[in-house]
Amino acid sequence: MTAPSDMPGLPMTRPASCPVDPPEDYAKFRGAELMKVRCPVGMDAWLVTRYADVRAVLSDRTMSSRGASSLHVNPYAGPDEEVHPGSVIQLDGERHSRLRKMVLAEFTVRRVKAMREYVRELVGRHLDAMLARPGTADLVQDFALPIPSLVICELLGVPHADRERFQRQSVALVSTDRTAEQSRQARDELSGYLAGLFTDKQRDPQDDVFSRMITRGEATGDPLTMEELVILGLSLLVAGHETTANMIALSVLVLLEHPEQRDVVLRTPDRAVEELLRYLSVVQFGVLRYATEDVAVGEHTVKAGDWLVAALNSANRDEEAFPGADELDFHRESPRPHLAFGFGAHQCLGQQLARVELQETLTQLFSRVPSLRLAVSPEELEFKHNTLVYGVRQLPITWSR
Ligand code: HEM
Repeated sequence: MTAPSDMPGLPMTRPASCPVDPPEDYAKFRGAELMKVRCPVGMDAWLVTRYADVRAVLSDRTMSSRGASSLHVNPYAGPDEEVHPGSVIQLDGERHSRLRKMVLAEFTVRRVKAMREYVRELVGRHLDAMLARPGTADLVQDFALPIPSLVICELLGVPHADRERFQRQSVALVSTDRTAEQSRQARDELSGYLAGLFTDKQRDPQDDVFSRMITRGEATGDPLTMEELVILGLSLLVAGHETTANMIALSVLVLLEHPEQRDVVLRTPDRAVEELLRYLSVVQFGVLRYATEDVAVGEHTVKAGDWLVAALNSANRDEEAFPGADELDFHRESPRPHLAFGFGAHQCLGQQLARVELQETLTQLFSRVPSLRLAVSPEELEFKHNTLVYGVRQLPITWSR
């Protein structure tokens, strides 16, 4: 076990030669004993780096999600903070499965298929607007951020007239360069807006996800309270916005640097997106768990009361699970399931929708704009090293007419 004075801290440095690779030290840790690390907010946690151990931790019912997924990175939260009803990602046991079941009913294959039409049209419209400009754009602001935000507006049933304001507030909510006061203000404004929206839906249900959840809850005698509805709405926004936006921008960057791979994306977008999810694993600080009992992780015993970080980006580069793990390889033979969406009881609820958004954005972008290229040299790009979700701050692009 490592002595506290030697304790390494998160985030660890990524290799300058390939800024989308995880920290080089992770490979060393996978071959060694379990290691305690100091998290960005100062708390200590066991860093779980091997594919098999991460899966075991995330499927262990004695592990609590009460700090998930960002307590170790969020300077405005404390370890003893109460878990709000409606915060699906942080609830455990029965309270979690009740809420998860209600949301899952809205993410069925049929519903996500219906959302694809909407996403396709939305992506097409944003591309039209971007291409109508004189030959340069910031792919992050002009494309990657608005698409997932508008998809969530559609899920929540935000009326079109309110979408611009809603988008401005959600960018403020998920933005990482705001003060505590600005984040609280954005949260209060959005909560107030959602409470009004859901009250209208209780009175006059429409054909949207939240109206259906309200109606179904009332019909089964287990209605969601307004507090649950509002926090659930905010959770979808936080969980689905930055993650998808950063995945879109980083995937485009990687494909600009591997132009020979673009054909595979166009021919088999589903296969390419899976490999991009594994390779990029944007939830860079992993997901946090709290041990409620003593538990063995690999050869080590973690004590009740300890925190653990399941390092998804390390697990997805584990050679034991993915031979040649550091290569972006769209032709892997029967690859094992990657862990970019987590694993076990809290595995991402929006994963099918995220896949659709990635497939539609990448195929439309590269088929309509084959001349797409970076407008700056790769060394000038700035990456988000301290945020829960990894990404690139701006992605200046250009194309030929
Ligand atoms: C590429 C995009 C995305 C990535 C990489 C991602 C990643 C993740 C991960 C790693 C978890 C597990 C957290 C944990 O175990 O503590 C998670 C959970 C979750 N995600 Fe996503 N996500 C993405 C997109 C979305 C979208 C589009 C939505 C919805 C609109 C969404 C909604 C959720 C929710 C509600 C949970 C909590 C599930 C639960 O606790 O039962 N995510 N996501």
